[in-house]
Amino acid sequence: MKARRSLLKGFGGYLPDRIVTNDDLATSGLETSDEWIRARTGIAQRHRAGPEDTAVSMAVAAGRQALEYANATPDDVDAIIVATSTPDQAFPSTAVRVQGELGMTSGFGFDVAAACSGFIFALSTADALIRSGQARSALVIGSEVYSRILDPEDRSTFVLFGDGAGAVFLQATEDGGGQGIVSTHLHSDGRHGDLLYVDGAIGQKDKSAYLKMQGRDVFRHAVAKLSSSVDEVLEANGLKYEDVAWLVPHQANLRIIDGVARKLHLPPERVVITVDRHANTSAASIPLALNEAVRDGRIRSGDLVLMEALGGGLTWGAALARI
Ligand code: ACO
Repeated sequence: MKARRSLLKGFGGYLPDRIVTNDDLATSGLETSDEWIRARTGIAQRHRAGPEDTAVSMAVAAGRQALEYANATPDDVDAIIVATSTPDQAFPSTAVRVQGELGMTSGFGFDVAAACSGFIFALSTADALIRSGQARSALVIGSEVYSRILDPEDRSTFVLFGDGAGAVFLQATEDGGGQGIVSTHLHSDGRHGDLLYVDGAIGQKDKSAYLKMQGRDVFRHAVAKLSSSVDEVLEANGLKYEDVAWLVPHQANLRIIDGVARKLHLPPERVVITVDRHANTSAASIPLALNEAVRDGRIRSGDLVLMEALGGGLTWGAALARI
C-alpha cells in the first residue's frame, strides 16, 4: 500500500483594508522614519485590523478562500487548526469559532500557539493527523491581530507587525505522485522565552498585554536557527539546495530572509517576499505569501517549496512540500 500524504489543495488569504505606511507612523508622532524602517526591515507598509476584523473573522475569510480554490465545501473539512497568538477569546478556540461560522456540524478544531512559527507547527500537526488516518482533510489557518498587543509608544516593535490571515486546505491522498507535504521539522527552546513575550492575559488592557522583544538577540537566533533548519530539511530528504524551487519564509525582516536565501544559494527571484507590504503578520505570514505566489502563477504544480519560521518561545521549524 502506498503511504498516505497531505496534498496542498487550496490557498487563501485575507488582509484588512486599512493600510498604514511608514510615513503614516512617522507623522502620527512615533519617533521613526520611512528610511530607518526600510533599511532595517524592508517594510514599507502594513495592514491594520479595523473594528470589524477579528482573529475569527479573518480566519473565516482566508479559510473560505482556500476551500473555494480547492472546489471544496465546509462539509469536506475534517479538522481545522488555527495558529494564532492573538485569539479573540481565551476559549472557545479560534478554530472552533471558525467551525461554527462555516456552519460545520462535524469534524473538530483546535488552536496552536507557537507565535511566529505557528503555521509550521499547525501544518505539521495537520499532516500528522492526515498521515495517521485521524483526518482525511484539514483547513490550516494562521490568523493574527498583532495590532492588539503592540505598544503604540514602542517604536522598536510597533513598526514591525501587521494584521491578516492565511490558509491552506490539505487533503489526504494515497497516490500523490510525489506531491504533498514531504517532511516537517519542529524545534523549541524555552530557555529563550524572555527574548520575545507578552505577559498579559487575553483582553487585558494595560502595558503588560504588550509584546516585548530583544530585537538584536532574536535576529541573531533567527539567522542561525533558520539556516540549520534549512540544512535539516534537505539532509532528511537527501536533497541539495538546487532542488528547491521556492523559499517561502516567515516574513519578519528582509535581512533575515536574505541571510537564509544566501545560505540556500537561492537567487532573490526564487524567494517569495511580502514583508514589504504586509510587514510581520506572525503565524499568517507564510500562508499569505504562499497564497499570493500560487495565485499569481509563480509557484506551480510540481514545484518543491521550502517554508521556515522562527518566533517567540523560541520556536522554530521548517516544512517541505511539493505543490
Ligand atoms: N525608528 C527609528 N529608530 C529606531 C526604531 C524605529 N522604528 N526602532 C529602534 N530604533 C533605534 C533604537 O532605539 C536604537 O537607538 P539608540 O542607538 O539611540 O539606542 C537604534 O535604533 C538601533 O536599535 P537596535 O535595536 O540595535 O537596531 P537593530 O539594527 O537591531 O534593528 C530590529 C532592530 C529591526 C528590530 C532588528 O533587531 C530585528 O529585525 N530583529 C529581529 C526581530 C524580529 O523580526 N522580530 C519579529 C518576531 S520574531 C520573528 O518573527 C523572527
